Amino acid sequence: MSKYYVTTPIYYPSGKFHIGTAYTTVLADMLKRLKVMQGYDSLMLTGVDEHGQKIEDKAKEANMSPKEYVDIQADAAKKLWKTMKIDNDIFMRTTDEYHERAVQEIFERFLKQGDIYKGEYEGWYCKPCESYFTETQLVDGKCPDCGREVKKMKEEAYFFNMKKYADRLLEFYNSHPDFIKPEYRKTEMINNFIKLGLEDLCVTRTSFDWGIKVKSDPKHVIYVWLDALTNYITALGYLSDDDSMFKKYWPADLHIVGKDIARFHLIYWPIFLMALDLPLPKTIFVHNWIMMKDGKMSKSKGNVIYPEQLIERYGLDATKYFLIREVPSSQDGLFSPEEFVQRYNYDLCNDLSNLLNRTISMVNKYFEGKVPEYNGIKNDVDEDLEKASKDVIESYNREINNFEFANSLKEVWNYISRTNKYIDETSPWALAKDEENIEKLKSCIYHLVANLREIAILIRPLMKDTSDNMLRQLGMGSNVNWDTLKEYKNIKNIKVIEKGEPIFMRLKEEEEVEAIKNMMKQ
Ligand code: ME8
Ligand code: MG
Repeated sequence: MSKYYVTTPIYYPSGKFHIGTAYTTVLADMLKRLKVMQGYDSLMLTGVDEHGQKIEDKAKEANMSPKEYVDIQADAAKKLWKTMKIDNDIFMRTTDEYHERAVQEIFERFLKQGDIYKGEYEGWYCKPCESYFTETQLVDGKCPDCGREVKKMKEEAYFFNMKKYADRLLEFYNSHPDFIKPEYRKTEMINNFIKLGLEDLCVTRTSFDWGIKVKSDPKHVIYVWLDALTNYITALGYLSDDDSMFKKYWPADLHIVGKDIARFHLIYWPIFLMALDLPLPKTIFVHNWIMMKDGKMSKSKGNVIYPEQLIERYGLDATKYFLIREVPSSQDGLFSPEEFVQRYNYDLCNDLSNLLNRTISMVNKYFEGKVPEYNGIKNDVDEDLEKASKDVIESYNREINNFEFANSLKEVWNYISRTNKYIDETSPWALAKDEENIEKLKSCIYHLVANLREIAILIRPLMKDTSDNMLRQLGMGSNVNWDTLKEYKNIKNIKVIEKGEPIFMRLKEEEEVEAIKNMMKQ
């Protein structure tokens, strides 16, 4: 059995996660479930990144010790993923002892190898980003990543010799075309960082306490990014007594990361792995962001949406559908209340829910609920429809393999539209009027049911509950996997439920737009 190891970043547990932050996790979950359906031995990792000054400050604000604070936050994160039915196998916490021990050991090894050396650091520090910047990197004197104030700081520190690995990294990029997706992110890294000459990276801090101490020099705390990135291997037991998972699952098949942390994953992480003599992940996919009409989501702008809010009112699957559907790999996606309600009404209600409903009621009306067996090509358009049923699987797979996840859904929804059009083309109500047309009617109904099952399978990695619901209404068990797609003509002995239940009910547009706007004010 082939293995598939997919990771999200580990999140800073410094507040409630908004829908933007949920994007990575929903995507990873979808891919994991897809691979499980395809027969892979799949493992998904997510978790929290608990050290660093930002967390220390947050804890202080909350009048707690950092550990008390992160314990509460980690629980909140776990609870959210449970609400969202995220099927992660591991929930990583960087305050766990096995992780801390491994990070210390890695640091000592780098020291011994001469990859890390002691020096002095002076630079502009951005606290929220936990990053130092050089004068030239600042934008209008502010942090180039988040735009906030930076402070001049100086400290004795250890450095990682990045320069030593720059050529090897570039060579790796060039000889591994699948390493970075989409391709333009690779160009960005080369042009914006590697070509300008990699600076050595400061990998310790002395200005605060909340982190993993350097074993041989404990007044230094290990830089939170060196600590955090290694989670992808420590989570598997690397450098622990039992590293069987590591042996089985490493290298990762896919790291999914947001664009803001591309540099850490595309430059520093591969270099750390090279220094450890470990294989590099097969692919790192950098995704874009969910933006609001007025830019980034932020509490101060009053434009934040939390996943729980949407889930409570519109359900989990509608929320997840929107997230994946709205973020193309070429640019940021936009969240707007209008767009959300429209997607719900058009894609989910009009297109999908109505197709199921119309089909179920016709099976009941014309065949007492019993789905006729496949009887070949009977209507003029049957052949075309069957071709579409093959094509959609191919185009879905193609888009997934190209990391065009929004497009993979678009393909499924084109197919849903195609199937709705098939009803108009065959006019089953007209066929039903004449006993002579019974074979045509049977064929029409069969194709509709077969398409619906196919749709239920294709959306299943992302919308499991909806898929279950569709299959139940069609009278099929939910014991399906990717191979079931090959059984298009082989549906037998099926009885649909007597009265179809709408899976998505039409929303009153104005009312719901208002409701979502109110959520944003909370
Ligand atoms: O960066 N749309 O954690 P984090 C889409 N601890 N994705 C978004 C987003 C948005 N509006 N806002 C944030 C960290 N994200 C580190 C990672 S990994 C070794 C350490 C994404 O909590 C963001 O791009 O700040 C990132 O991938 C994830 O949320 C967690 O961000
Ligand atoms: Mg961040």
